[in-house]
Amino acid sequence: MCGLGTVAQGVLNVLRDNVDVITQRAGREILLTQIASRNLKPDVNLGMAEFSTDVLALSKRKDLDVVVELIGGEETALEIVRNALLNRTSVVTGNKAVVALHGNELLGLAREQGCYLGFEAAVAGAIPIIAALTRSLAGNRVDWLAGIINGTSNFILTAMTEEGRSFDDALAEAQRLGYAEADPTVDVAGIDAAHKLTILAALAFGTGFRFADVYTEGISEITAEDINYAGQLGYRIKHLGIARRTEAGVEARVHPTLVPKRQLIANIDGVMNAVLVHGNAAGPTLYCGAGAGGRASASAVIADLVELARGTAYLPLETSNTSLDMLPVEDTQSGYYLRIPSLDQPGVFAKVATLLSERNISIEAAIQREQAINTQSQEAWVPIVILTHTVTERVMNGVIAQVQSLPEVVGKITRLRVDQLSNG
Ligand SMILES: NC(=O)c1ccc[n+]([C@@H]2O[C@H](COP(=O)([O-])OP(=O)(O)OC[C@H]3O[C@@H](n4cnc5c(N)ncnc54)[C@H](OP(=O)(O)O)[C@@H]3O)[C@@H](O)[C@H]2O)c1
Repeated sequence: MCGLGTVAQGVLNVLRDNVDVITQRAGREILLTQIASRNLKPDVNLGMAEFSTDVLALSKRKDLDVVVELIGGEETALEIVRNALLNRTSVVTGNKAVVALHGNELLGLAREQGCYLGFEAAVAGAIPIIAALTRSLAGNRVDWLAGIINGTSNFILTAMTEEGRSFDDALAEAQRLGYAEADPTVDVAGIDAAHKLTILAALAFGTGFRFADVYTEGISEITAEDINYAGQLGYRIKHLGIARRTEAGVEARVHPTLVPKRQLIANIDGVMNAVLVHGNAAGPTLYCGAGAGGRASASAVIADLVELARGTAYLPLETSNTSLDMLPVEDTQSGYYLRIPSLDQPGVFAKVATLLSERNISIEAAIQREQAINTQSQEAWVPIVILTHTVTERVMNGVIAQVQSLPEVVGKITRLRVDQLSNG
């Protein structure tokens, strides 16, 4: 095993605590014989494993059945995985970045070398979503899936929703509790979720791992005001990764999304993760659980090890289905939430409604209420909040540009996507 951090220590502990059930299910004992990491941690019980600081040397050893990569990051981790596979040694990793960015090469290499590359821990921690997509739902054509796949963002949005906190305040709280890194960019900008969605889309639709084609938006622009308006309209704002098969191609996008409160996934809060999958035979199935944490992630790592030990490990089949295009976000469709700061004058709403109807965009709901005063101009303004029915993003962008240029619109329009998460 390479690494001796949160997840690696979880693997050590769970392998030790659950040795009886794991041995029984694996049909043999799983022994951690070698551990390599940057630093030895004297307070960590390594059991019978020998320790070294040379992770690359470990990855090149020829006497191992499996190398577990848990150092994180990209370059060295990729080298470890490559080295092991080139040696015909199977690999288990929790590294979403490496799988999302190099999955085509690495799965191809594993197939060529006749070994296994397991990455259950790379998406949504303890949740067995890789097994669900590659095994349990194997008889389905997946229509779409949507997931809360970044616990940090979900924690922040939940704190903003339940406690009315600002984004900055909720982020500071997440950092204080250890749910967010000192530099939270990878989480709050949606990059981590995009890595995970890349993997889910590759498995669900056979598109190959195409991170560059995943549209990514984070949560830092979300305001307590928008969360409040969404609530009044019957929605909650969740940071979702959505992948959907359409006639024109596959959509893969990560962004804040208004989800109807009645949907179970809208109520998955805090650091919990959840993935909703719609298969054409199974219908909707929802998987939820801990998306992070040493022991929870170790649960997924060990699941891969057990599959390997008992000889039932399944390498996803050829994942590059070139007949499916990935759709640019402008060609995707969704409903929209618009918050338009406008002068408090009669007729503004009618002008906006006319511009929308000229493009055949119908309004599902609207709010126009409290007056506010612009602190710079001292003018009275009102936010016009509109929820639209489904429309193509390119069309919506055109209308937003028109509305934005109305003289009565006094600030930047906020635009969020709405998804009913249903087939109808
Ligand atoms: N944390 C979670 O809940 C979670 C959940 C699912 C998946 N994952 C994934 O699992 C992997 C490990 O995450 P983690 O949270 O356990 O990370 P972590 O706590 O930062 O642990 C990383 C470990 O690897 C060592 N390391 C890092 N770079 C190294 C290098 N170049 N050479 C040698 N050793 C190196 C570190 O050494 P030092 O101790 O000396 O720094 C540390 O022991 C990541 O890919 C992560 O995305 C994590």
